[in-house]
Amino acid sequence: MHASRFAAAILAALHFPVLAQEPATGVPPEKLTFEKDIKPILREKCLHCHNRKTLPDKPGFENAKRAFVKTPGGLSVIVPGDPEKSLMITAISLNSMHEGSMPMVGERPTAEEISLLKRWIKEGANWPKGRKGKIKPPFHARE
Ligand code: HEC
Repeated sequence: MHASRFAAAILAALHFPVLAQEPATGVPPEKLTFEKDIKPILREKCLHCHNRKTLPDKPGFENAKRAFVKTPGGLSVIVPGDPEKSLMITAISLNSMHEGSMPMVGERPTAEEISLLKRWIKEGANWPKGRKGKIKPPFHARE
């Protein structure tokens, strides 16, 4: 391959990592749904700490009201349409040795789960009201 074309290919791959992973069907992938795609990740990887009883003063993920909040430092946990500005994504993308990296301890979200959360936020972070939008902490919730 000609050197400059090679460089262009690398640049393209770096620039569009998400597109590169998507199957080339030409059909846009369906929008993610909160209940099917997002709830299980939050329930398994975040809820046992981020619930009202365990961390009453921190963002909680048991419903939209407790999740769409700002930290005392003014950072929004979820910014619909903008994963890069969402603290939820920043926190889980940090290397585990880094202060502020989430989860603090325990099983980390997989790369696939992180990209699902990012995509969900990009698609508008739709979090339904009412029962559908409620997540119960798993059985091992600490009190
Ligand atoms: C083992 C318990 C634990 C787990 C699991 C956990 N967190 Fe946290 N999280 C904490 C604690 C404790 C803090 C507060 C840290 C601090 O203030 O220094 C925190 C803080 C945060 C903050 C920053 C909030 C703020 O006010 O600064 C975000 C965002 C966050 N967590 C997201 C997540 C997400 C998303 C998950 C799941 C992928 C998760 N956490 C899993 C314990 C946990």
